[in-house]
Amino acid sequence: MKIAIVGTGYVGLVSGTCFAETGVDVTCVDVNQKKIEGLKNGIIPIYEPGLEEMVIRNIKENRLNFTTSLESCLDDVEVVFSAVGTPPDEDGSADLKYVLEVARTIGKHMNKYVLVVTKSTVPVGTAKKVRATIQEELDKRGVNIEFDVASNPEFLKEGNAINDFMSPDRVVVGVESERAKEVMTKLYKPFLLNNFRVIFMDIPSAEMTKYAANSMLATRISFMNDIANLCELVGADVNMVRSGIGSDTRIGRKFLYAGCGYGGSCFPKDVKALIKTAEKNGYPMRVLKAVEEVNQAQKSILFNKLNKHFNGNLEGKIIALWGLAFKPETDDMREAPALILIDLLLKAGCTVRVYDPAAMNEAKRRIGDCVYYAQDMYDALLDADALLMVTEWKQFRLPAWGVIKKTMRTPVIIDGRNIYDIDELKAMDVTYYCIGK
Ligand code: UDX
Repeated sequence: MKIAIVGTGYVGLVSGTCFAETGVDVTCVDVNQKKIEGLKNGIIPIYEPGLEEMVIRNIKENRLNFTTSLESCLDDVEVVFSAVGTPPDEDGSADLKYVLEVARTIGKHMNKYVLVVTKSTVPVGTAKKVRATIQEELDKRGVNIEFDVASNPEFLKEGNAINDFMSPDRVVVGVESERAKEVMTKLYKPFLLNNFRVIFMDIPSAEMTKYAANSMLATRISFMNDIANLCELVGADVNMVRSGIGSDTRIGRKFLYAGCGYGGSCFPKDVKALIKTAEKNGYPMRVLKAVEEVNQAQKSILFNKLNKHFNGNLEGKIIALWGLAFKPETDDMREAPALILIDLLLKAGCTVRVYDPAAMNEAKRRIGDCVYYAQDMYDALLDADALLMVTEWKQFRLPAWGVIKKTMRTPVIIDGRNIYDIDELKAMDVTYYCIGK
């Protein structure tokens, strides 16, 4: 089986490589020539554990190819996945420019049946627009060629992307023809070994499923952040509350961790886009608006705690920050709480020393030299008045407390991910604040 995947971002590159791993002949397409040249040599543009080895192996075995020309592979492939970006435009709606460009190219150059599957997160109704765009191009050419469109949203998490793709909880596929269903069944069959389900449905429902899933998860997080803030006021412990409610199988244990706000490329963007879709349809998404508002406020919570500790007197303080990426195991800083924190700290007149195991270069690219980039996690603490723990990388979990106490000017730790033990730190005379306790 031969397929093409357009877009070599997280979703495109991971999907393409994982399909190749099952024996499918995959061509990854991207307009960025430099990226494609790099990929041909096994240089991958993102940080994702395990991906590089898998890309190199599949290139060697000739199942994974890279090109800048979608046109050149259309005669060979049965399926084209579209995994191009859908950045939010000024009003928060998903911008479909790239998705429709792919459709146009397909319509202009296809000579035989192709199934066009949208993997990018796109608003309900996009598949219809993709179909119309392809048809328009075929009409211009005066040819009549059969094709199908489908929707196959991707649920992979950065940092665990390969595992998520290879053994997913489920695969959601929206189709409108038996032929498309057969092709998708065949393509996903190798994964059935892992005992998971492909859920077929109509296309609008598949498109909606992705937004509803991400919005539900974001809602759980904002809800728990609200509960955590209230716990602090009434003398409860959010960790206890989490185990208490998570053991109810109707609620479940996952995505109930209070923290300093969710970030990344999906939750913030998808919540905003769903609010917009609802607005366009004359419906107010009241819950999601609150989810967003809570998250925005939560990103300043570590700063507020710090400010309170120093009685509003932060001018000249040296503040260390552990973790810049929006979560561990990635160098991605999109919508990361660290960005907002750094901004607030600098405005308050602090000197900021940062360390992240993977996102230092990304931070330099984004914010330049307004902070000190530490050599390692302990270097970030030199003479610091306080440490903000922002991203729960494994290496931050069991630090050398003796070194910390010697290196910092005052051992004040504000933990945005609740990874330390309050009693242990108290016993060591460390001033410790966390979330929701
Ligand atoms: C998410 C979805 O999980 C995935 O299914 C979808 O395809 C893309 O969006 P991702 O953005 O990679 O994946 O990260 P995820 O691990 O879901 O975390 C998102 C954010 O939520 C992070 O900032 C994380 O720190 C935060 N989070 C997560 C919490 O604050 N509490 C939790 O309990 C879980």
